[in-house]
Amino acid sequence: MPDTDSNEQVDALGFDYLDAQPHAAWKVLREHCPVKPLPVPEGDAPVYMVMRHDDIESVFRDPETYSSAIHNETIGPVMGEIILGMDGQEHKDHRDLVARAFRASALAKWDHELIEPTINSLLDEVAPLGRAELVSALTSRYPVQVIAAIVGVPNEDYPKFQQWAEDITSIHLDPPRAIAASQAMAEYLLPIVNDRRANPTDDLISDLVTAEIDGTRLTDERILGFLRLLLPAGAETTFRAMGNCLVALLTHPDVMARVVADRDLIPAVIEETLRWETSVTIVSRNALADAEIAGCPIPNGSTLLLMNSSSGRDESHYDHADEWDIDRKAQNHLFFGTGRHQCLGMHLARLELRIGLDAILTRLPGLRLDPDAPVPVIEGFAFRSPASIPVVFDA
Ligand code: HEM
Repeated sequence: MPDTDSNEQVDALGFDYLDAQPHAAWKVLREHCPVKPLPVPEGDAPVYMVMRHDDIESVFRDPETYSSAIHNETIGPVMGEIILGMDGQEHKDHRDLVARAFRASALAKWDHELIEPTINSLLDEVAPLGRAELVSALTSRYPVQVIAAIVGVPNEDYPKFQQWAEDITSIHLDPPRAIAASQAMAEYLLPIVNDRRANPTDDLISDLVTAEIDGTRLTDERILGFLRLLLPAGAETTFRAMGNCLVALLTHPDVMARVVADRDLIPAVIEETLRWETSVTIVSRNALADAEIAGCPIPNGSTLLLMNSSSGRDESHYDHADEWDIDRKAQNHLFFGTGRHQCLGMHLARLELRIGLDAILTRLPGLRLDPDAPVPVIEGFAFRSPASIPVVFDA
């Protein structure tokens, strides 16, 4: 049984679990109340935050008990019919349609054709300046251009996607703004979808309009569901992760010097940063049956918030978990989820981060924090990243 006293005791500490700096509260929960019930209105299904690595992993790996359909309630209103919210065979059939395009082997062609030119054209603007704010100048503009090109929308329209991606993912904070962005995106995309039906090319929209499941083509609504998910999933997550990598490096100048001299360390920077501060902090599930996690009864119909960001700091899984240490030999991370819904874009994200960080270190020599500006801080609850990264470098 969950220890009711622990629950009340941690409540008495007065933590705001939605705080932009939640790690201290999460540490207390991992230790004293690893399945934390949240207050809900009378009559609503219970909601639990699941804090520990191994408990989160066991939920990811039990899709029969823990459904992904909850996503249809939370982000369905703005994204439509999405694979993230599908279970079982329906999920497999739909995921298989796009999985091929995001395999590591299929992405290799994008290295030189798309990803390097995209980051380098952004760096062309920044490199001569000697001083910049890297979120507005680089990170927020880079992954959105890559995913827009892979999907097959015109590159010049990427600022629209950047804005729509931000608006759609703000559904919990500002639902009308998110719904307006979702409608605007559909109005923009439908003519492109119709055009690819008439004239298929080699982009992802063409794959989707010609794809069949059991001999039936996808409806517009399903195609839009893919696009409404892929564009924000590809844009918002990775730009934030890149900001987190840069903050980690800039605030650890000794490690920055090692990585500048030895670029083979970049993958370790990426893996360790995603463990220490992942950009996607929460993944939801709903219980399809009565269950139990860490001794806590989970009634059928409960909502579970799997606290991915807390799993990366779990002291029982990682030594000195709060420290950012690129020499750690840790595995079995959950920052891309695991099981059937494991992130479809994880190879793309790692590729963009590796190529992007390498290019930044090459093109902005002597990169360091701007001594005249505030030190950047990683912040947020549902998504975590720095709002700005002021830097100087040798122009
Ligand atoms: C560092 C960057 C990223 C992080 C931290 C991240 C994180 C995640 C996580 C935790 C999930 C699992 C959700 C669940 O189990 O319900 C997921 C799923 C997904 N991600 Fe990512 N992601 C990243 C980048 C990307 C990129 C670049 C794309 C673009 C293609 C993408 C597309 C998706 C899709 C389509 C799914 C749903 C897969 C399914 O339901 O089968 N992600 N991501």
